[in-house]
Amino acid sequence: MAHIALYRKYRPKTFSEVVGQKVVVESLKNQIAAGKIGHAFLFTGTRGTGKTSCAKIFAKAINCQHNHNGEPCLQCDVCKGIENESVYDVTEMDAASNNSVEDIRDILSEVMYLPVMAKYKVYIIDEVHMLSTAAFNALLKTLEEPPAHVVFILATTELHKVPATILSRCQRYDFNKLSIEEIGEALMYIADCEGIELSQSAARTIASLADGAMRDATSILDTCLSRGNVINDDIVADVAGISKQQEILTLADYIIKKDLPSALQEILLLEQRSVDIKRLCEELITHFRNLLLANLPKSTYQLLNVSPEKFELTKKQAETTNHAFIQTALSAFTTAFESISKGQNPKISLDIAIYTLCNTQIVPVSVVPAAQEQRPAAPVQPQQTVAPQPQQEEIIPFAQWLNTIDIVGTMDKPLYSLLKGSRAYLYNNIVYIDGHEALNNYLRGNREAATIVKQAIQQACGKMHNIGGYKNIADKFAPPKTDGLEDILSLRNSGVEVNIND
Ligand SMILES: Nc1ncnc2c1ncn2[C@@H]1O[C@H](COP(=O)(O)OP(=O)(O)OP(=O)(O)O)[C@@H](O)[C@H]1O
Ligand SMILES: [Mg+2]
Ligand SMILES: [Zn+2]
Repeated sequence: MAHIALYRKYRPKTFSEVVGQKVVVESLKNQIAAGKIGHAFLFTGTRGTGKTSCAKIFAKAINCQHNHNGEPCLQCDVCKGIENESVYDVTEMDAASNNSVEDIRDILSEVMYLPVMAKYKVYIIDEVHMLSTAAFNALLKTLEEPPAHVVFILATTELHKVPATILSRCQRYDFNKLSIEEIGEALMYIADCEGIELSQSAARTIASLADGAMRDATSILDTCLSRGNVINDDIVADVAGISKQQEILTLADYIIKKDLPSALQEILLLEQRSVDIKRLCEELITHFRNLLLANLPKSTYQLLNVSPEKFELTKKQAETTNHAFIQTALSAFTTAFESISKGQNPKISLDIAIYTLCNTQIVPVSVVPAAQEQRPAAPVQPQQTVAPQPQQEEIIPFAQWLNTIDIVGTMDKPLYSLLKGSRAYLYNNIVYIDGHEALNNYLRGNREAATIVKQAIQQACGKMHNIGGYKNIADKFAPPKTDGLEDILSLRNSGVEVNIND
């Protein structure tokens, strides 16, 4: 037997089978039970939350010969006829593909005639916001004086595109996103019927991925079935391209230990598994939030909303870090998430957060006075090393650096924030950037970001320059180790970075 998609197989057939939407379902049932049925309904709300399903149930219920408390019996000729589409009195039209005034006139041409078999002629118009203006006007005429035996159910995901004149003629019903609990429970029920071994936690993961839409949830479950009848968190993660529990824990571990190379390697692996970086950011936010909660004295797994096993792992990890670091991490990932939402490069945004976090204890050596445009003194005599000396040329502050940073700001916000406060020097036609350790590492490891900086430099000064880390050449200008404090101070004032601990 061919596989029927789960979301079709589990389309609710009665109001009691509808998941969530209690307010809508109750008031529709009450109307039917009271026998006072309106002539125009508007079902609006997120995709895949039950609008079309409820429209069909309603069409059956108002025509059913043995209606019981507002529910259709599903057994009588009318219910069966509507279900197998042999009753002509119920018409479904998809306005997405039939949106012209002719399409509407076609169906409206017979509204005057009495129904053949049912009590009411029902017109279900899906995606009604797609109708052309002329089509809306034609529909409006009928809505203004509907024959007593006609019921319109208009459904839309985009309420704001429906003309006010139409809205004012309809009873409006809002279909809300379903909660994770509602979807999770419904998935467990489907799994039960289908003989699928679905773990509670996997059901929740699917539910949160579905973002309130039951159809999406059922589709994800369906996709997971390609991996067999036993579905756990890891399979859902694989199928949906999200990170697995263990992967998030491992990544967080590297970040807490400030092990930058391993953290980056882990992200690379996740990327190769096509994990969505924006979602990964969200998961990191949730995870660090959980670390915060796990550290509270009376914390429980219910508080974190995770399984008891995951709670234990989270709690253990929370003990390896502290409140301040978790807060820093939360704000770094939130910034990254916001940047991505605004259209910035996801990988760069997340990388910068990680670079920053892995370097949070390194205080930037801030020894150079602000005056960028001042020419520093000539470089001191080079150290007596065997390394070949660069061709002698004066090192000078790169005069267009502030402009460069501003230009980067228009191209890449996270990179901009990393560049802010840095300095740059021109030497042998190369712009040497002197900044936070995180910045240097970042530019070294990320071609895309380096290219952005080079482009900005070119825009700022009209010339192409290669870039490099100032640290790489700093020792060429550093004083001999035996130099006294005075020399060091004078060097500092000239804009050359000196690390006393060397
Ligand atoms: N509230 C719900 N209860 C149970 N199943 C639901 C619910 N909402 C959606 N579904 C599932 O999703 C499928 C699609 O639902 P339906 O067509 O009613 O959604 P819709 O709101 O009309 O979506 P769209 O806006 O995309 O037309 C159903 O067949 C069913 O499997
Ligand atoms: Mg629909
Ligand atoms: Zn019936």
